Amino acid sequence: MKIGIIGCGHVGLVTAACFAQKGNSVFCVDNDEQRINMLRAGRMPFYEPGLEDMILTNIRNRRIVFSTRIKDAVNTCEALFISVSTPSMPSGALDLSAVEHVSREIAVNMRSYKLIVEKSTVPVRTCDKVHQTIKKYVPRGVSFDVASNPEFLREGSAIYDSMNPDRIVIGVSSKRAENILKRLYKPFKARIITTDIKSAELIKHASNSFLAMKISFINAVANVCELADANIDEVAYGIGMDNRIGHAFLKAGTGYGGSCFPKDVSGFIAIADSLGYNFGILKEVQKTNLLQRQYMVRKIESELWIVSNKTIGILGLAFKPDTDDIREAPALDVIKMLLEKGAKIKAYDPKAMENVKKVFPDITYCKNAYETADKADCVAVLTEWKEFAGMNLKKLKNIMSHPTIIDGRNIFDPAKIRKAGFTYHSVGRP
Ligand SMILES: NC(=O)c1ccc[n+]([C@@H]2O[C@H](COP(=O)([O-])OP(=O)(O)OC[C@H]3O[C@@H](n4cnc5c(N)ncnc54)[C@H](O)[C@@H]3O)[C@@H](O)[C@H]2O)c1
Repeated sequence: MKIGIIGCGHVGLVTAACFAQKGNSVFCVDNDEQRINMLRAGRMPFYEPGLEDMILTNIRNRRIVFSTRIKDAVNTCEALFISVSTPSMPSGALDLSAVEHVSREIAVNMRSYKLIVEKSTVPVRTCDKVHQTIKKYVPRGVSFDVASNPEFLREGSAIYDSMNPDRIVIGVSSKRAENILKRLYKPFKARIITTDIKSAELIKHASNSFLAMKISFINAVANVCELADANIDEVAYGIGMDNRIGHAFLKAGTGYGGSCFPKDVSGFIAIADSLGYNFGILKEVQKTNLLQRQYMVRKIESELWIVSNKTIGILGLAFKPDTDDIREAPALDVIKMLLEKGAKIKAYDPKAMENVKKVFPDITYCKNAYETADKADCVAVLTEWKEFAGMNLKKLKNIMSHPTIIDGRNIFDPAKIRKAGFTYHSVGRP
């Protein structure tokens, strides 16, 4: 099938790579000329494991082409996926101007039937607006369908997730649209859930909000554990053994970040508000998440007393491991609060440092974790990269001014690390 993907970001590029890998011809469009030039030259605009290989293979096989012109994709393709950014506005509502713009551009260039598939995360009823917009601008007599196909990939394992989805949700209003999407997704051998369009839109916002709620819930329980001298690892294990709950997303830490959970939770609150429902439970989820970052700073402060002029080594900047994405990363907030208190920051992340340099040009960036810890008064772990958990504790202890670790991701075994001579605090563990 010939497929157009509008928006070559984390979602668009991964979707394009996977559709091409399954034998489709994919036409990728982005309005960022620099990004398109990079991609044409075979360079990726961000780090995602396995993406580069898959894109390069399919460029060579002539199954992927890149362009800045939506018109070319509309001329060539039967199905057009919208995967552009939908950022938060200060109110928490989502800025849908890119979705509107792309819908209009698709419409004016249509000369025959097209299926327009909304893949960006959008509030319920957005596809209605996309439909209205296309109807207004499309040449008379040209038919089309709009469908919703929310994306559930996780950055860091996006290729695996997209090639092996646990479910594919398609929200459709016609048999024709359903048949096209089912044909396209058949090779993925996944369960396809077919719903009406509005339910599909809601499934995405509700799924991410539920996962965010699980994270804030376990962090709140971790805070109670600290006060009660209980152990969150044991509590989480005990909770997760209940089949109705499960173990996923019950890991206490410094809270969630990234381009999805914070934006999706605030977007869901905003759309519920506009429909007349006060989604109080999600407002608490947000609050708990932000407090978790402050608790991290408070732990550092309670260990160092005066933070001003002390050297703090930050291990991990990306919002999670295996990505260079720093959008809404807890580490950024923690660094900002520590800088305001006069701390000297040294930082290391295996992939995200170039991105963080644009936000904090004046902190010290290190070549590895040991250089970060060298002569530090304290080291704070903010992203659970595997290489941090495997560090040589003896070496680490010898190079620090004061062997103190504040572990915001619970990557170390408390007994082992104290035995190695460190002062150690983690989240919700005695
Ligand atoms: N990143 C994730 O893990 C993830 C997962 C599921 C869903 N989503 C959702 O998918 C959507 C895209 O997310 P992303 O992470 O890929 O974003 P991104 O910022 O990585 O990429 C978006 C791309 O869209 C392009 N773009 C913006 N306006 C455009 C326009 N008018 N015409 C053509 N291109 C345009 C940008 O240049 C950029 O390359 C968002 O709604 C997001 O919430 C993201």
